[in-house]
This record gives sequence, structure tokens and C-alpha cells, in this order.
Amino acid sequence: TSSRWRLVDLPKISDPRGNLTFVEGGRHVPFDIARVYYLYDVPGGAERGGHAHKALRQLIIAMAGSFDVALDDGTRKERVHLNRSYYGLLVDTMVWRELDNFSSGSVCMVLASTVYEESDYYRDYEEFVAALGRPSE
Ligand code: TYD
Repeated sequence: TSSRWRLVDLPKISDPRGNLTFVEGGRHVPFDIARVYYLYDVPGGAERGGHAHKALRQLIIAMAGSFDVALDDGTRKERVHLNRSYYGLLVDTMVWRELDNFSSGSVCMVLASTVYEESDYYRDYEEFVAALGRPSE
């Protein structure tokens, strides 16, 4: 594991009528939620991600089905399998991530600390690794 990502246990209100989970900004995630986006209808074998963020932090939740998140902070690598909607994977800045192994019908929801900004991305792995050695901008 790395200090740049961790699994967050979300509250689960179990009920014979169906379970309920909630996420509060500033409480279950250490930031205010600025944006929510989700991946769905992901074809078998597809890979998403393949980038790192300079400032964005996010909580990744498997809302339905399952998928893997491969994480890399330049020193440590870990592959996390997400398959429960009451677990969130909290990912800090400067972590290279790749998502794959999506089950059919899976939905990946992301709660993000900032709105979409292309300039916040490292899309080139070598560039990401080079930036790790430098103080952040
Ligand atoms: P990208 O972040 O590369 O997707 P992933 O990491 O899931 O593979 O985004 C794919 C495209 O969607 C890219 O053209 C940017 C656009 N996009 C937005 O316009 N807004 C968003 O909030 C996100 C996440 C992506």
C-alpha cells in the first residue's frame, strides 16, 4: 500500500428493503466534492485512466459490478479490485492510475475535488515520473 491511496469504508445502512450508502464531502472524503462523473457501458477488455493528476484528488466507487484499479506513485504499485458500493478508493494527487477488468454492467463513479481541467493531467508516464522528482508547481 501507499500513503497516496487508501480504501475508505463508507457507511452502510442495511435494510431488508435494500441497503443505503452515503458519502459526505469533508467527512468521508477529505475535500469538498466539486464534480461527479461515471464510467458505464464499458466494453469487455477496455482500459480507462492511464494518467495522473497534479492537484485533483478523488474517491472511486464501484457503484455496480467490479473493476481493477492499478495504482503507481512512482515507488509503490498496487492493484485494487473494487466490487462493493460501500468501499471507496481515495486517490491523492500524483498517482498514476489505470482501470481495467470491468465486469459487464459495471459502473465506476468518481467524486472529484475539482472540475475537469486538462492542464491538471499528466498523460505521459515518463513526464509524470520526471515531475515526481521536482517540487510541485
Ligand atoms: P479521461 O479523463 O481521459 O477518461 P478516463 O480517465 O476515464 O479514461 O477523459 C475522457 C474524455 O472525456 C476526455 O476527452 C476529457 C473528457 N472529460 C470531460 O470533458 N469531463 C470530465 O469530467 C472527464 C472526467 C472527462
